Amino acid sequence: MLTFDHVYFYYKKGQPIIDDISFTIRTGEFVSIVGANGSGKSTVAKLIDGLLLPRSGTVKLHQLDTAKPADLDEIHQQIGFVFQNPEDQFITTTVMDEVLFGLQNIRVPREEMRGRVDAALRAVQMEDFLEAMPHQLSGGQKQRVAIASILAMQPQVIIFDEATSMLDPQGRKQVLSIMHDLHRQGMTIIHITHHMEEALTAERILLIHGGCLQFDGDPLTLFETVAITDYQLQLPFTVRLHKILQLEKPLAVDWKEGIRSQWSIN
Ligand SMILES: Nc1ncnc2c1ncn2[C@@H]1O[C@H](COP(=O)(O)OP(=O)(O)O)[C@@H](O)[C@H]1O
Ligand SMILES: [Mg+2]
Repeated sequence: MLTFDHVYFYYKKGQPIIDDISFTIRTGEFVSIVGANGSGKSTVAKLIDGLLLPRSGTVKLHQLDTAKPADLDEIHQQIGFVFQNPEDQFITTTVMDEVLFGLQNIRVPREEMRGRVDAALRAVQMEDFLEAMPHQLSGGQKQRVAIASILAMQPQVIIFDEATSMLDPQGRKQVLSIMHDLHRQGMTIIHITHHMEEALTAERILLIHGGCLQFDGDPLTLFETVAITDYQLQLPFTVRLHKILQLEKPLAVDWKEGIRSQWSIN
């Protein structure tokens, strides 16, 4: 369980970026955090991971508190991060070394390493690229290697911070599909995005605007009750079409099926 309790944060005094936000994400949930550019999504992600500390309020993963230095190692191990630009995350020269690197950092016993690397690469269907050089891969493949590096460390939570936004449609689809695979296996997934089509696949959406949590609930309720265009976000195509056609049938009947097949999510 991950808890934000009355979190307040600013970079510059007097200019709050996060202004009293509270929420709880249960273990195994798939949550999307949405909001316009500059609304504070990445700041929330960094607060979750303890890279930033709240000016007031608390951020906890179970009983671990990001404000307690003694808890930070464990928090970093339990929370993995996948960033927007896959280029930024590579340090080594082969896919295998890339995944091994994180394991060496957290001192996984040597005899356990190879098994973890293989399993992680299989989970993202990159097992045939062990010796490949990361910079020669496509954007989607790079992102999958970045995910494998995180998976090998066996975290409870993965935060994807706009991790699909630089990918081509096929890469986006694959990465989103992997997020859902991991969710089905019990991981907590936090998908930060301003692609509402993708957010629609989450179980729950948190909408951040003006430093506050403007909405916390399921995607369908968001689109039915909030004018998301007021927050510089676009209605997903499916929802737009439904509105244009003024379909009699409530959106709820077929939207989930439609969205899941659109993204090839099992
Ligand atoms: N290190 C920083 N120092 C000062 N201001 C920052 C810093 N990082 C982000 N900001 C500002 O905080 C606000 C929220 O940024 P961010 O969390 O990156 O938003 P988002 O991820 O939603 O685009 C923006 O106005 C941004 O300019
Ligand atoms: Mg951001």
